[in-house]
Amino acid sequence: MSDVVSEQVKKFIFHSGASKSEDGEEETLEILIPEQLQASYSFYTWPSAPVLAWFLWERRKQLPGKHIVELGAGTALPGILAAKCGAFVTLTDSACLPKSLQHVHHCCEVNGLLPNQVRVLGLTWGLFVNNIFTLGPIDLILGSDCFYEPSIFEDIIVTVAFLLEKNPDARFLCVYQERSSDWSIEHHLNKWQLRCEQIPIDNLGADSAIMAEASLLQSELAEEFRLAAEHVKSTLVSRLDPSQLLGLYALYKQATQGRCPPEKPRWYQLQEKQKWEAWSSLGDMEQSDAMSGYVRMVSELDPGWTSEQGQDRPSEGWVTVSCLSNTDEFIHDSDKTVFDWVKEGDVQRVRSAVLKEGVDVNAVDAEGMGLIHWAADRDNVDMLKMLVAELKADVNLQDQEGQTALHYAASCGHVSVVKYLVEQGADQTIADVYGMLPAHVASEEEMCHLFNPVKSSCQ
Ligand SMILES: C[S@@+](CC[C@H](N)C(=O)[O-])C[C@H]1O[C@@H](n2cnc3c(N)ncnc32)[C@H](O)[C@@H]1O
Repeated sequence: MSDVVSEQVKKFIFHSGASKSEDGEEETLEILIPEQLQASYSFYTWPSAPVLAWFLWERRKQLPGKHIVELGAGTALPGILAAKCGAFVTLTDSACLPKSLQHVHHCCEVNGLLPNQVRVLGLTWGLFVNNIFTLGPIDLILGSDCFYEPSIFEDIIVTVAFLLEKNPDARFLCVYQERSSDWSIEHHLNKWQLRCEQIPIDNLGADSAIMAEASLLQSELAEEFRLAAEHVKSTLVSRLDPSQLLGLYALYKQATQGRCPPEKPRWYQLQEKQKWEAWSSLGDMEQSDAMSGYVRMVSELDPGWTSEQGQDRPSEGWVTVSCLSNTDEFIHDSDKTVFDWVKEGDVQRVRSAVLKEGVDVNAVDAEGMGLIHWAADRDNVDMLKMLVAELKADVNLQDQEGQTALHYAASCGHVSVVKYLVEQGADQTIADVYGMLPAHVASEEEMCHLFNPVKSSCQ
C-alpha cells in the first residue's frame, strides 16, 4: 500500500515586504506542508495556523535561540516556521494518535529540519505523564486551533497552567477559530489563575506578506481522484442509486485508508454491514488502483465529466474536502447540515437551526436517520435533552429500518442515553423491520435491567 499518492503538499511562502533584512535584502521563507486526503483533524492545516505562523514571521528576529513548544501541532506550520527562524522547537500532538505524530515527523522531514532544530513528542492535554516532565525550559508555548471543542478546553488550560507554572516567564500564544459565540475559556482561566490578553492582528501584513499555494506537488492521480470525489459530492450524489454509492464508497475508503478493518459491524446494522462488505470485498487492492477505479467509475457514471472541468474552480481554501457523503468524513463548516451539528455535539447550532431556521426537529437525513438517532448514536445526552425536552422531538421516531433512538443507544451500549430515553417514555415495544425490540439489540448485559422485564429478552 502506498500513502504517497493520497498526499498533497501546500506551499506557504513568507515574504519580508517592508521589513527587509539589515542589508536591505528581501527575506523569503518557504515552508512545505504535506496534507493527507484522509479525514482527521491533524492532517490538515487549519486557518488559524497561517495566522499564527505569520504573526511569528513578523517577529522572526526575536526567535533565534528561543525554546518553543507547540501544542496540538497537527501539520505544525507555526512550529516549523519558528524552527526555520532559529528557535529550538518541540512539536507535540496527542500521545494517543501515533499516526498524527508520524505525520508531524514527516512535515519536519519535508522541510529539512534536523533533530537539533526540532523534536516531536506525544503530549496529551490534561495528562501528566512522561513527556510533559521532560520538556525542559520553555520561552513560548504555541497553540493553533486547539480550542475547537469545549469538552477539551479545561484539559488544554490545565496543561498550559502547568507549563507556565514551571516557566513563569513564558507565554502561551494561541490563535483560535470562532465556531460558536457562546464558547468561552474565561471560567477555566479564573479557576487556574491565568490571565489572557487579546492581541489585535489588524496590523498583520503591514510589514510582510504570506502566500499559500494549494495542491502543489500532488501526483496527477491524486489530483484526479480529489476532483472526482468533489464532483460526486457536489453534483453526482443525488443522482446515484444505493448500489452505485456503495461502489464509490468502497473505492473511496480503499483509496484513502487502505484495507478494510476486520471487525464486522453487528448483524442488525444493515447499512454499516453493507458498507463494510463493499469495502472489504476490495481486499488488498492498492490504494492507487482504488483511486484509478474511483475516477473511472465517476467517468462512467457521468460520461460528460472530466477531471479538467474541476481544475479551473477556485481553490476550496485551506482545507481540502474529499468525501463521499456526510456520514463519517471531514466536512467543511459551510457544507454542514443540522445532522452534522448533531454529530459534532454543537447544541447551540442545532437549537438555532430548529428555532430560527425552521428545520423540522423530526426531519430525517439521506440515511433515514433523525436528529435524535444521531444524538443517541453519539452518546450525547445533553443533545438529546435539548431535542426531546426543549424542542419536542418525537422520542419514538423510526429510521428506514424501523429503529428508534432507543434501538441505537441500546445497540451501542450507551447506558445514560438508554436511561434518559426510558425516563422520557420511549416506547420499548417498537420493533424494527426485523422484529427486534431495543432490549433485543442491547449490547451490554448490564443494560438489560433498564428495560421493562416483560420485554427484556436481552441476548
Ligand atoms: C483543529 S486541529 C489543529 C491542528 C493544527 N494546530 C492546525 O492549526 O492546523 C487540533 C489538533 O489538536 C490535536 N489534539 C486533539 N486532542 C488532543 C489532546 N487531547 N491532546 C493533544 N492534542 C490533541 C489534534 O490531533 C489536532 O492536531
